[in-house]
Amino acid sequence: MRTIAFVTQKGGAGKSTIASSLAVTAHEAGERVFIIDLDPQQSLVKWSQTRGEADVPVEAVSPNKLPNVLATLEKKGVTLCIIDTAGAETATTKAAMKAADLCIIPSRPNVFDIWASEQTRMSLRELNKEFVFLLNQCPPAQQSARVEEGMKALEAMGGLISPLVAARVDYQEAARYGYGVSEINPHGLAADEMRKLWSSIKKRMARGKAAATRNAA
Ligand SMILES: Nc1ncnc2c1ncn2[C@@H]1O[C@H](COP(=O)(O)OP(=O)(O)O)[C@@H](O)[C@H]1O
Ligand SMILES: [Mg+2]
Repeated sequence: MRTIAFVTQKGGAGKSTIASSLAVTAHEAGERVFIIDLDPQQSLVKWSQTRGEADVPVEAVSPNKLPNVLATLEKKGVTLCIIDTAGAETATTKAAMKAADLCIIPSRPNVFDIWASEQTRMSLRELNKEFVFLLNQCPPAQQSARVEEGMKALEAMGGLISPLVAARVDYQEAARYGYGVSEINPHGLAADEMRKLWSSIKKRMARGKAAATRNAA
């Protein structure tokens, strides 16, 4: 089982939105996905209740139980666990960071998000964890100077995962009705972004695993 956590101090960056759509895309690609919602706001627990299906289960877990819950999920044959966290750096977020094979830090292309990302990055560096930035809610269609600057800043801070994710109504509509973007508009641009993102994450995790094996040898 591989575990990824969406983390950043900044609320509104898109952790829950991308976590839910990515979970659906990974499920469609054949993964057995389980979402752990560590945010007291329980956005994804509510998303799951709206969804009303058990195909992508979501559970709120208390952080001290996280290692045990993950061990149980692995035994049950879950292949991908996605952890969503609150937009604040708490002991709970740290527990998610520690448990994850890869942490994803979503950031909008604006200075406040990028500053917050920098702080999250420092925590991840202290914990010696693998992480990547994800630029979310970019203006669609054209590559603006703001996006270019955001890309450069995040690349310099440790690496940006592809693709850029644009601000699209599909993300908001899907989340609202308990779906992923690939379900409400399978041939849409947002669905395409999520398939590309899943493919990039898989490659990135394979790289991390290879490095860990080398280091252990
Ligand atoms: N790519 C996107 N396109 C359009 N709206 C988005 C996108 N990502 C997030 N949003 C919107 O931004 C807001 C914050 O997203 P959310 O996932 O709740 O952030 P977080 O979980 O990081 O606090 C929500 O209203 C959501 O619909
Ligand atoms: Mg959230």
